[in-house]
Amino acid sequence: MPQYTRNPPLDIPELDPDPLKQLDKWLADAREAGMIDPTAMALGTATPDGRPSVRIVLFKGFRHGGLNFYTHLLSRKGLELEMNPFVAATFWWDRLERQVRVEGRVSRLPETVARDYFQSRPRESQLSAYTSRQSQVVGSREALDARMRDNAQKFEGQAIPFPDSWGGYSLEPESFEFWQGRPGRTHDRLLYRRCVKAWKIERLEP
Ligand SMILES: Cc1cc2nc3c(=O)[nH]c(=O)nc-3n(C[C@H](O)[C@H](O)[C@H](O)COP(=O)(O)O)c2cc1C
Repeated sequence: MPQYTRNPPLDIPELDPDPLKQLDKWLADAREAGMIDPTAMALGTATPDGRPSVRIVLFKGFRHGGLNFYTHLLSRKGLELEMNPFVAATFWWDRLERQVRVEGRVSRLPETVARDYFQSRPRESQLSAYTSRQSQVVGSREALDARMRDNAQKFEGQAIPFPDSWGGYSLEPESFEFWQGRPGRTHDRLLYRRCVKAWKIERLEP
């Protein structure tokens, strides 16, 4: 059983009143600690009848008041988000013994924002986003590779077109929980909840 001994106590006055800024600070700490991809977050979606599913996506900054990520709109998560926009996301940085949980609802980022991000990606990632029908069954690896090759040839010397079924979402947070491990399982848990004008911060029992 690991013991969490790395962190000094954390209390409400030390937190930024804005949880997005607090998240930014912890992300910077995780980068500094040498984590390979501190922006990886587990994203939980659910069907309208409450069946959850979770997968990792990459957090790609704050725009439109929320946490942005990009994906295929017709993927399993894309279809679930279409029917039920409420989500939960979690970051875990083992080297820092810290977790952040976020809950809220997503809205689609404007297509211009998704296009800008798409253009900034390496060509192979653009080709894969264009070619993949994310979450669909495919007969074999070869079939997928052949489609990738065909598209690579088709667009040789040209820009890869922006895929119709790909885009970005903004997770507009309603709550955040900043958790850090403490000795003897007396962990710090600080919960932000969105109130009318500001965020209210309270401590939760570990
Ligand atoms: C480290 C990591 C980062 C990932 N980043 C993304 C991402 O930003 N967007 C995405 O659509 N899938 C990403 N994936 C793949 C997803 O976890 C998942 O396989 C895919 O989105 C299909 O999920 P779905 O079938 O639930 O829609 C990532 C996977 C890992 C392990």
